[in-house]
Amino acid sequence: MSVSAAYVTFADPDGFDDEKEPALAAWAEVGIAGHVVRWDDPGVDWAGFDVVVVRSPWDYVIRRGEFLDWARRVESVTRLLNPAAVLERNTDKVYLRDLGVPIVPTYWVAPGEAVDFPILDEYVVKPTVSSGARDAIRTGDREKALAHAAQLVADGQTVMIQPYLEMVEAEGETSLLYFGGRFSHAIRRNPELAGNTAMPGQENREPELRDPDPDQLALAERVLARCPDLLYARVDLVRLPDGSPVLIELELTEPYLFLRYAPDGAANLACALAKAI
Ligand SMILES: Nc1ncnc2c1ncn2[C@@H]1O[C@H](COP(=O)(O)OP(=O)(O)O)[C@@H](O)[C@H]1O
Ligand SMILES: [Mg+2]
Repeated sequence: MSVSAAYVTFADPDGFDDEKEPALAAWAEVGIAGHVVRWDDPGVDWAGFDVVVVRSPWDYVIRRGEFLDWARRVESVTRLLNPAAVLERNTDKVYLRDLGVPIVPTYWVAPGEAVDFPILDEYVVKPTVSSGARDAIRTGDREKALAHAAQLVADGQTVMIQPYLEMVEAEGETSLLYFGGRFSHAIRRNPELAGNTAMPGQENREPELRDPDPDQLALAERVLARCPDLLYARVDLVRLPDGSPVLIELELTEPYLFLRYAPDGAANLACALAKAI
């Protein structure tokens, strides 16, 4: 094999990332030798790889500055995918404000601003730098929502306040996966803030492949048209009460890709990687 690629992960003692094996097996099929490496391993010679693929550095949320420094350093000696500038912009959800596509209605409060937002039936309060719903709460209690927002802002975080969209418990969130700008597969995902109020039978449903609706595909393509040169992208969509699809998150940094749920997923990623090199 002539091409070597780093599969970038983190110190993952619990083995949360179960996509290493399918990804590396598919890379091998197209002649790419993959090596699993920790982004914060000081002993790694990044210049020794033809390409460095960011996959599961899932502790970046609490070490964002360090992570972005690492990304810029790696990019100065070899090819980084997705590129460092993409990672920098994508790791803070303020990017949602100026993407120019419909998003979940959001009230933004930055550090130093007064914590205030309209009255809603149920609130989701979450920081703009987060993953896996870290520090996100859902509550119908306005005082609780205000207090949580105030706490996050006091910690130096920008906060997003949104209406809780109940559809995540019925239709579920839809994630569309794109590799090299081409649609690969779409997944129905579980709600993360449903708690014990999830509808019966929905609580711990396995993610599953789904055919995206035409309006979801159209929105995802609009989103992608704004971001060229990506190896991987996950477009996470929900629906407003009126049924229209909106973007809840665009994952260009370290998305779980649901490769195990899609028969062609790993091969599609490998093809896109081979083309990018
Ligand atoms: N406004 C909302 N309504 C319903 N569920 C939400 C809302 N915001 C977040 N969630 C739930 O929390 C999860 C995580 O929120 P998200 O904005 O995707 O941040 P991250 O994945 O980066 O932590 C979503 O996948 C969804 O299940
Ligand atoms: Mg998310």
